[in-house]
Amino acid sequence: MLEVNHLDVVFRTYGGEVKAVRDVSFHVDHGEIVAIVGESGSGKSVTVKTIAGLMQSENAEIRNGNVLLNGTDLLKMTEKELRKVKGSTMTMVFQDSMTSLNPTMKVGKQIEESIKEHTGLSKSERKDKVITILKQVGIPNPELRAEQYPHEFSGGMRQRVMIAIALACNPELLIADEPTTALDVTIQAQILDLLKGLQANYNTSIILITHDLGVVAETAKKVIVMYAGMVVEKAPVDQIFKHPGHPYTEGLINSMPDVSTDKNERLIPIEGSPPDLFSPPTGCPFVSRCKYAMEVCEHHIPPEFEVKYNHFSRCWLHDERAGVNHFNANKEGEETDQK
Ligand SMILES: Nc1ncnc2c1ncn2[C@@H]1O[C@H](COP(=O)(O)OP(=O)(O)OP(=O)(O)O)[C@@H](O)[C@H]1O
Ligand code: SF4
Ligand SMILES: [Mg+2]
Repeated sequence: MLEVNHLDVVFRTYGGEVKAVRDVSFHVDHGEIVAIVGESGSGKSVTVKTIAGLMQSENAEIRNGNVLLNGTDLLKMTEKELRKVKGSTMTMVFQDSMTSLNPTMKVGKQIEESIKEHTGLSKSERKDKVITILKQVGIPNPELRAEQYPHEFSGGMRQRVMIAIALACNPELLIADEPTTALDVTIQAQILDLLKGLQANYNTSIILITHDLGVVAETAKKVIVMYAGMVVEKAPVDQIFKHPGHPYTEGLINSMPDVSTDKNERLIPIEGSPPDLFSPPTGCPFVSRCKYAMEVCEHHIPPEFEVKYNHFSRCWLHDERAGVNHFNANKEGEETDQK
């Protein structure tokens, strides 16, 4: 349903051009939950904001690429056309619901406005729908809550309101940029269950940005790993945890707390820091931190190798000229296991 092809986004600043998103391609199927992971500054938010048409007002320039939603290029739409798509087909939920909600308008009214903008329902039908949606996102006493203002809600409840607004028009695609980061663990789990329920009951496609690989493992079907503005790996979720195909992903997984082992066990952080996006490396963006780096990595950006069906990695180790190495040794091991 959504296809992002070769997207390049730069920011013009006094210090030069920030190459925030480089050659990003991926797709989301109907009813699929896709997670985007990667360190801070890797381009996750810029990617989804570009998809949602939120980059125009900033000092951003979309240099290349297209974003096809059900076959139509969102980047070529007029503002009016895009406004129609936003809310009816595609909506976005952000981390900080306080800044996204209108503090001076009752919550029910805000949801109703969203319904009004995108459907032809009458006023009384809209009011009924507000209550139904508030129930659907697990807000108790919906009749009372609809008459309250955002500051009367807790962080978790406000986030539910944001999701309620997003759902008011049954979007085909929901983009959630770290929707649970500001919340405590229990509430986080409830919001994620809510998103999973949407996918299961309404076949909503969801793009979920998160720093938490545990959340990814429990929620998503497919994972996109970003590093320094590029997609370095994409794979089905079970595949990526068992057999990561990129050294950066491997590093992320090794630095993830494992609940099944002793909590005191030391995690292995990825040493070093990401490259400067004003002048990213001419070769692989991960080269300065990669323990497997070869000469080719310094000078040439790795292409996307299909490591396995639907599993892609931008790493030269998958080129047959790299010989037997850590990654294809793993693969051979796996084949033997299967036999
Ligand atoms: N308006 C802007 N002007 C200049 N640079 C920007 C602007 N917005 C974002 N950037 C830069 O673009 C890069 C990608 O930012 P982005 O917000 O997409 O990262 P992210 O992966 O979402 O990080 P986080 O996990 O911290 O949310 C960063 O280097 C950031 O500094
Ligand atoms: S291309 Fe080279 S530097 Fe980049 S991740 Fe692969 S081995 Fe490491
Ligand atoms: Mg972000």
